[in-house]
Amino acid sequence: MTSTKRVVVTGATGLIGAKLCAQLIAKGYSVVVFSRDLQKARHTVPGAAEYVAWSPAETGDWAKAIDGAYGVVNLAGASLFGKRWSAEYKREIIASREVGTRGLVNAMAAAQQKPELLVNMSAVGFYGPHGAELLDESAPAGNDFLANVCKVWEREAARAEQLGVRTVIFRSGVVLSAAEHAGLPINLSKMSLDRPGLVLDTEAGAFPLLLLPFYFFTGGPVLPGTQYLSWIHVDDTVGLLIKALEDPQARGPLNATAPDPQTNKAIAATIGNVMGRPSWLPVPGFAMHLLLGEMADMITTGQRVLPKKAQELGYQFKYAQSEQAIRQLLRK
Ligand SMILES: NC(=O)c1ccc[n+]([C@@H]2O[C@H](COP(=O)([O-])OP(=O)(O)OC[C@H]3O[C@@H](n4cnc5c(N)ncnc54)[C@H](OP(=O)(O)O)[C@@H]3O)[C@@H](O)[C@H]2O)c1
Repeated sequence: MTSTKRVVVTGATGLIGAKLCAQLIAKGYSVVVFSRDLQKARHTVPGAAEYVAWSPAETGDWAKAIDGAYGVVNLAGASLFGKRWSAEYKREIIASREVGTRGLVNAMAAAQQKPELLVNMSAVGFYGPHGAELLDESAPAGNDFLANVCKVWEREAARAEQLGVRTVIFRSGVVLSAAEHAGLPINLSKMSLDRPGLVLDTEAGAFPLLLLPFYFFTGGPVLPGTQYLSWIHVDDTVGLLIKALEDPQARGPLNATAPDPQTNKAIAATIGNVMGRPSWLPVPGFAMHLLLGEMADMITTGQRVLPKKAQELGYQFKYAQSEQAIRQLLRK
């Protein structure tokens, strides 16, 4: 396909954004990167049509780049991994998404030619912690911190739909992606006494968190082990984002998860099997809390989410099974 459609991407320099932009550019889209750091953006996302200075705000000079764009993909937000969730950092996690999204929709409202669509990131954390029941897009919101982050984010994005902009709320599962380098997924250079706990290689998202115990030959389920992990391979995240951009039927909440959510215990067994390392040593949830603080909730709780809408839209997952995805990521 060739196209000169202009697509604005925030958070383009991140784990998902960089891969999405590379594919959009290869498909012939004219990608406009919104970033807080233009030097990093030019380096991380080569070949974009434009690099625009942007940070979460109600309005700014960047707003004119929204006018006449075909679409906006809004991925930006303070990282959930790699830094302890202090009260101050929790405020940043929320505000970066709330104010950032609000500003983008304000720009759409003011545009002479509004974009046709907004694809706005959210997460399966929207549903809050659950047991083994299957959840599709009709399930109600939860009430913990991550659910509240998602509710605020989705509320701001929904204002675009009221402007007549087709809006897809992309409820992503945990994105599994390989680190660019092999080895221990801890960033030793960033460990310090004033930042207690491990500092993980955040460029690879959540996967290092899952792999960590296996590097010490102490792999096993994080207790209780019955909590579900709704995961997705990063190639499918990008594939589904492009589906959301290109399929006019895509609208409203869209669960971006593989059709094979697994319990933490089952995932641990698969990782151990693929890495050829023990996977029987249970990790107490409180140990994860000691290491990671409240962030550990993302591992010690979970939800079993199905990609009902993605499948109705006919999306074919490249990595539908967890073992297939883990083998590919670990090059095994
Ligand atoms: N990875 C996952 O497993 C997962 C799962 C569900 C949802 N999500 C969400 O999907 C989005 C993209 O995920 P990702 O893994 O690609 O994230 P990421 O690697 O952390 O990248 C997010 C990008 O957001 C921008 N950003 C960082 N801090 C910011 C702040 N305080 N204010 C405004 N912008 C900020 C940065 O871009 P610039 O520095 O260029 O501005 C960064 O490259 C995130 O919002 C994430 O929460 C991710």
